[in-house]
Amino acid sequence: MSATPSALERLFDLLAMRTSNRSTPGGTPREGRRLAFQIGERMSSIPSGGAGARGTPASGVPAASGPAGGTPVADAPAAGRPTAGAPASDTRKRQALELFRGLPRRYDLLSAALSFGQDPRWRRALVQALAPAPGARVLDVATGTGMVAAELLARCDDCTVVGLDQSPEMLSAARARFDGDRSELGRRVALVEGEAEALPFADASFDALTFTYLLRYVDDPAATMRELARVLSPGGRISSLEFGVPPWPPARAAWRFYTTVGLPLLGRLASREWAEVGRFLGPSIRGFYARHPLERIVGYWREAGLSEVRVRRMSLGGGVVISAEKAAGTGDARGA
Ligand SMILES: C[S@@+](CC[C@H](N)C(=O)[O-])C[C@H]1O[C@@H](n2cnc3c(N)ncnc32)[C@H](O)[C@@H]1O
Repeated sequence: MSATPSALERLFDLLAMRTSNRSTPGGTPREGRRLAFQIGERMSSIPSGGAGARGTPASGVPAASGPAGGTPVADAPAAGRPTAGAPASDTRKRQALELFRGLPRRYDLLSAALSFGQDPRWRRALVQALAPAPGARVLDVATGTGMVAAELLARCDDCTVVGLDQSPEMLSAARARFDGDRSELGRRVALVEGEAEALPFADASFDALTFTYLLRYVDDPAATMRELARVLSPGGRISSLEFGVPPWPPARAAWRFYTTVGLPLLGRLASREWAEVGRFLGPSIRGFYARHPLERIVGYWREAGLSEVRVRRMSLGGGVVISAEKAAGTGDARGA
């Protein structure tokens, strides 16, 4: 994805090493509470090791029945064979949980501000690339505070959306977003705590699937892609948004400067938690693409049984939207 690093980039590397050595997200292990929440209905708790635990039926997860008078939200997910994938490793999961624990309060505002307003534009492109049909059942993985879920509901007539995330704190911000929405939109979404690596849904449960800024947080992106493709019905569409490293050298140098110097500084001005994000993000993005160049990521999509894979670099490559279709007649792609 990138050419030989320039002297300037090597200097940024040194700076980045200094800042990222200072701290990495981590912390104390925490209880894996599971809860499913259906907007417009009651909140129902799922015992620890429930919905996201390997091989356990996801009873009580979104909406075997919908809210009174509303559209049933995603009937299929509660039945069948859930969680075919392996659960996340403890270390990586703990780091991601810690990182996102303190972010929800001003997440929407700061993620837009720190990306100079690009991030909302990328999310819109993500939903456009998905183009879900009216009435589609959509799964939004790593839903966070529910921004993509909200965009999906706004842009797709009668769609129902299940937003899944492993962070209870991010999910509770999503819940506040939809709970406050007294319109019909809020009744078409369900929020589920769970892991992308081991989805608590049966095969082919959804007509469309989105995921945002997820792959850097999983141990095995190729296996996660297979797990995501598993719950998509044949012919269904999938799209993702991830940060990227601009390929054009001048843009890449500017990106390096911003992620090495600007972002840590701005993060520090925002809060202790955002300071952590500011330090973590640049090295995390660079490290991810060093291990998994974009071409290889496209390969993971194909190996998962996804075809017509399209890559759209946005904002000179700072954002990358990938979209594809699950080939009709494709069954379980785990063996692919
Ligand atoms: C940067 S946020 C993106 C949130 C949201 N989709 C958006 O558009 O802003 C990444 C989210 O991924 C979630 N996440 C990270 N690893 C995950 C995993 N393995 N399974 C489920 N969610 C995960 C985090 O909890 C966090 O909410």
